[in-house]
Amino acid sequence: MLSNVIWLLRNEMFSDPNRSHFQPEARWCPGSILGIESSCDETAAAVLSREGEVLSNVVSSQATIHEKFGGVVPELAARAHLGKIDLVVREAFATAQVSKHTLGAIAVTQGPGLAGALLVGVNYAKALSYGLGIPIIGVNHLQGHIASAWLADPMFPRSCIVLVVSGGHTHLYRHEVGGRCTLLGCTRDDAAGEAFDKGAQMLGLGYPGGPAIDRIAHSGDLQVFRFPRFHRAKNSLEFSFSGVKTALLYKLREMGGPLRSQQTADLAAGYQEAIVQVLATKAFAALKQSNLAALAVVGGVSANSRLRTVLSERAAREGICLSLPPIEYCTDNAAMIASAGRRLLMNGERPHADLDISPAERFVSAIHEENRAKISFSKG
Ligand code: KG4
Ligand code: ZN
Repeated sequence: MLSNVIWLLRNEMFSDPNRSHFQPEARWCPGSILGIESSCDETAAAVLSREGEVLSNVVSSQATIHEKFGGVVPELAARAHLGKIDLVVREAFATAQVSKHTLGAIAVTQGPGLAGALLVGVNYAKALSYGLGIPIIGVNHLQGHIASAWLADPMFPRSCIVLVVSGGHTHLYRHEVGGRCTLLGCTRDDAAGEAFDKGAQMLGLGYPGGPAIDRIAHSGDLQVFRFPRFHRAKNSLEFSFSGVKTALLYKLREMGGPLRSQQTADLAAGYQEAIVQVLATKAFAALKQSNLAALAVVGGVSANSRLRTVLSERAAREGICLSLPPIEYCTDNAAMIASAGRRLLMNGERPHADLDISPAERFVSAIHEENRAKISFSKG
């Protein structure tokens, strides 16, 4: 990694003798922005125009590296990011037809995520920003997912409920016009994406599990197997997916032996339905409790076709304005990171010359029941 960074610095600093050196205190001059994402198993880079339009969005997936292990292996993820990041960034510039010398800033995922994976993206971004003499801004991965709600639909109301459903998060936020987010509820155990991945593993469908369950569920009957739906208390906006996972395990034990393909499809459809119905019920309950009429659902699980159908039908019935980002903005990507970074800079956030990774969850790890609604972060 170090040799990569040194190579970059040398290349950037000595290729253009007129380039100004990086000044940490330099203000952001609005211009195109490069986003970099490397928090887990996707190496991604994107370029946004000065106006925030997505000019390129390149994602290199590591799925084939991790599938034989049934999950992401951190060490392998970091090494794969290192091997790919420069190629992915170059492709993002080429597709956008933007020269790196015209960039206004770089936004990079700072956390949460795998430490080794984050280090690759952050150090690459720091080297590039230093060489180009432009500001760098760290972005929280969740803020990135939240920003994806407006990528394809900039006019979507800013006062809304946002449900972030990914491999590591199931979080309901109230989002205010200025970008402030207040946590309304989150999962007490597994995230929705984790429940999909673990369920798929039990069903022998491989990794990543969400897309596999989604695919096979199309040929299943969701009425054959009914799995429990977690609703803790009438008005609770908390989630739990450990019960549905255990129910699938017991069902599989009870059924014994190898499953017929129709049985697997029926189980997948029933299991998916339980997760989808809980997500939809809580999201709409949050709308009602907050007296809002706009809902954004973001993160990898928002790519789920059944969830999209259920949400779209209910939103149409109840007159709710719904933002479901296009699939390429649901799963991890760098356009959302660039967009969140751009918004932070526009809101006056200062660039972070001494940027470091923050792999641990910043916003939600230490939340107690009584102050849950008070936990918030600003300028999303
Ligand atoms: O947002 P994301 O790409 O990465 C994280 O931030 O975690 O989300 C990945 C998660 C995985 O658990 C994956 O199985 C799930 O999103 N996922 C899906 C679908 N596509 C991805 N889950 C259900 N249905 C899908 N179509
Ligand atoms: Zn993500």
